[in-house]
Amino acid sequence: MKDKNIIIAIDGHSSTGKSTVAKQLAKALGYIYVDTGAMYRAVSLYAMRKNFINEFTFDKEALEQDLPAINITFEMNPEKGLAEVLLNGENVEHIIRTLAVSKHVSKIAAISKVRKKLVEQQQKMGVNKGIVMDGRDIGTVVFPDAELKLFMTATAKDRAERRFIELKERGEDVTYEAVLKNVVNRDHIDSTRKDSPLRKAEDAIKIDNSNLTLQEQFDHILQIAKTAISENVV
Ligand code: DC
Repeated sequence: MKDKNIIIAIDGHSSTGKSTVAKQLAKALGYIYVDTGAMYRAVSLYAMRKNFINEFTFDKEALEQDLPAINITFEMNPEKGLAEVLLNGENVEHIIRTLAVSKHVSKIAAISKVRKKLVEQQQKMGVNKGIVMDGRDIGTVVFPDAELKLFMTATAKDRAERRFIELKERGEDVTYEAVLKNVVNRDHIDSTRKDSPLRKAEDAIKIDNSNLTLQEQFDHILQIAKTAISENVV
């Protein structure tokens, strides 16, 4: 008997540390990690650069028309052992994490044509399984048959505090209030949009990490993943 590779879908609210745990898990299991938020962020950056979206305007149709010209790929960073996102061949891994991009990304992610394009690409990435993918609709839309689904959450205050520290460490000039506002606003848009709103899949395991250290959370989730993998033998 041999363990079979599985698909691990991790969804949840913004800034719940989904990507941290997904990366740890992928490393421990020798799986591929895919950050789908990075893909929506890269499309947002494209739209911002083209001025399709800014503080005052949002030209959804123009972005939809340009979708065939947007190519999102991943490239391995051997030093970090992690894939980084490329927008039309340019590595945009860092620039897509700024608050400026975070401010627009939920609007971009609400566009059905954008979602369709990215979901198709994500499904192709999972054909061989052995993948940990994080996002908002992985367990509900991208891989409804994933062998393991996790849904991560924490209070908005806890999440904003973590994101604020992270942005400050990266040298961004932000206030805690602005970060909290962005977290609450994104939760609202992500959960109320018509297409693939953020929600917990019925069969997802809920993880509230408000009071868990990173190590505690990782130990707990790794145990869950190992059990799920051992249940999928060939
Ligand atoms: O995980 P993140 O914060 O980098 O995601 C950025 C935005 O993209 C988030 O506001 C919601 C959206 N998103 C989505 O709609 N579906 C996904 N699978 C991943 C992200």
